[in-house]
Formats: sequence, C-alpha cells, structure tokens
Amino acid sequence: MGAVKCIGILTSGGDAPGMNAAIRAVTRSAIYNGLQVKGIYRGYRGLVTGEIKEFKSQNVSNIIQQGGTILKTARCQEFMTPEGRKLAYENMKAENIDALVVIGGDGSLTGARIFAQEFDVPCIGLPGTIDNDLYGTDTTIGYDTALNTIIEAVDKIRDTATSHERLFFVEVMGRDAGFLALNGAIASGAEAAIIPEFSTEVDQLEEFIKNGFRKSKNSSIVIVAESEVTGGAMHYAERVKNEYPQYDVRVTILGHLQRGGSPTAHDRILASRLGAAAIDAIMEDQRNVMIGIENDEIVYIPFSKAIKNDKPIKRQLVSVLKELSI
Ligand code: F6P
Repeated sequence: MGAVKCIGILTSGGDAPGMNAAIRAVTRSAIYNGLQVKGIYRGYRGLVTGEIKEFKSQNVSNIIQQGGTILKTARCQEFMTPEGRKLAYENMKAENIDALVVIGGDGSLTGARIFAQEFDVPCIGLPGTIDNDLYGTDTTIGYDTALNTIIEAVDKIRDTATSHERLFFVEVMGRDAGFLALNGAIASGAEAAIIPEFSTEVDQLEEFIKNGFRKSKNSSIVIVAESEVTGGAMHYAERVKNEYPQYDVRVTILGHLQRGGSPTAHDRILASRLGAAAIDAIMEDQRNVMIGIENDEIVYIPFSKAIKNDKPIKRQLVSVLKELSI
C-alpha cells in the first residue's frame, strides 16, 4: 500500500440518485481498510473554503436509500481558476488529505484531472450523473433511477394523450447526450425519440411524421432530449403547429424531477461496487482514473479517456424503437 492514510470525498456537479450510496460505500470501505475519511462539502467549493469534516461509519448510516447527496453539491467557478485550485490544495494539505475521491460527471472529472496534474494529487473519479455520458462505464450512477422516473411520468402522460388523441413532446434531461431520451422512449413505448447524436443526419421530426405515426394510433408520444442541438421539445411543438396544424400538440418538460428520488436497486448496487472499488484502486496506488463497470467487470479508465471519448449510442436501439412503435 502507498502513502495514502486519509482520503477526502466530494460530490460535484448535478446531483444524481445513488450518490449517497457511493459516499457510504467509499467511507465504509476506506474505514474497513484502515484509512481515515474526510467529507468535503459543496463539491470543490468546500475544498476551496475548507468546509471539511471527518466521517466515521455512522455518518453514512441510513443514506443508501436517499436521493440527492448528503455532502451537498455545487458547480464551483473558483476551482476553475489556478488561484482557486491552489487554495484547494493548501486546504487539502492542512487537513492531511492524501487522495481525493470525486463523484460527479464530465465537468467534475475534468476538474479532478486538472487538479491532479497541477499538484500531483492522486484522484479517483466515480461516474455520478443521470446523463450516462461518460465513456468507460456501461451506466453511470443515477441514470437507471432517472430512466425509471421518466417511464413513470410518460405512463401517466399516455393516459391523457390517449383520452384527448393528442401528440405530446416530452422533454427529458441529458445535457448533450440522448441516452435518457432513447432508452426512455423504448421503455415507455413512446413512438419516437429525438436525440442530439442524430440531429445532423436526419430531420427526426420529418422522419417520424413520414413514418405515418397516426395510421394505427390515437395518441403519440415523442421523447425529446434537451439540447441546443435538438432545440428541445418547445421547438418541435412549434414546428408541428406551423407545419402540421391538423395535430393537437402539447409539451411536457420533466425537468429536475428526473434528478430526485430514491435510487433503484441497480444504482445502489452500482454505487456500492464503484465506491468499494475506488478504495481498492487507492490501495493499489492507482491515480487519476475513473472507476467504471463494463460487462459486469470493474475497470479503471484514465480521466482523459472517460471525459473526451464521446460515449457512442448504439444504433440498434434506434432500430428497436422504430420497429416496436409501428
Ligand atoms: O448533468 C446533469 C444535468 O441534470 C443535465 O441533464 C442538465 O442539463 C443539467 O444537469 C441541469 O443543470 P442545473 O441543475 O444546474 O440546471
């Protein structure tokens, strides 16, 4: 084992259900392996301002089932500056923290990567985001819960859509990734999904209309990924109003309700495995890697790969949606 005696743990960026399960797993696994644990509050901001507290096993009791993050989270502008990161490093040293475990998405792992390079600090990342947009892990912590929230909402929208024989555009999160939209559409039996990954290839609205969506159905639901590339659900509703005024259109934007709620079994198990693996990685002197699970195996992915390599969307999912929505 290397020189690490004390680890700091933080959650950063958008919260995701299962982050608490990850905090619990990292904390308990570290203590089990003889390491001291310090919780850093409000993401990198707590590192910059010194909002840090020692965590014992009981600090993480009764949280595996809770959504959100007990450590709070933030998007910290100061940490994006060299001066802010220097303050963060000084606080880390003052607290005797030897290594960091960062739970978050793309932006959070980018921050960890820069920090690790500048100050030679071992950082381990855990993929925590509902967007599922990190390369090197089959799913990210929070994604499965958000998907389940989406299908619960769409099931309800279907009832009213069918009663009124309406066309609904339902906007889901994902930043610039279409995983929630595409898999949400398959799992809720929606008629189509509009996602940024294929926006430049085809006019996804035209394709949906041309496929004759009204032939055999009296309601239609299209899941639209939020994104500047797609324009979002409002954009498509406007287009339909102008180009196909015969359809009665409504829009639902699911918004932040997708980020809340008790994590599913999948996310709890994922977070627990990844959290324990983060401590294994530290004990093996690994540094500057994200821990992922691919094909049910723990993998270590260098930050540069996890962040840069856009995770591809499987085209087979698009065909499945198309075939099953006839
Ligand atoms: O990255 C998670 C996410 O929920 C995205 O899907 C979404 O675009 C963004 O965060 C919203 O961020 P905020 O909560 O800061 O509005």
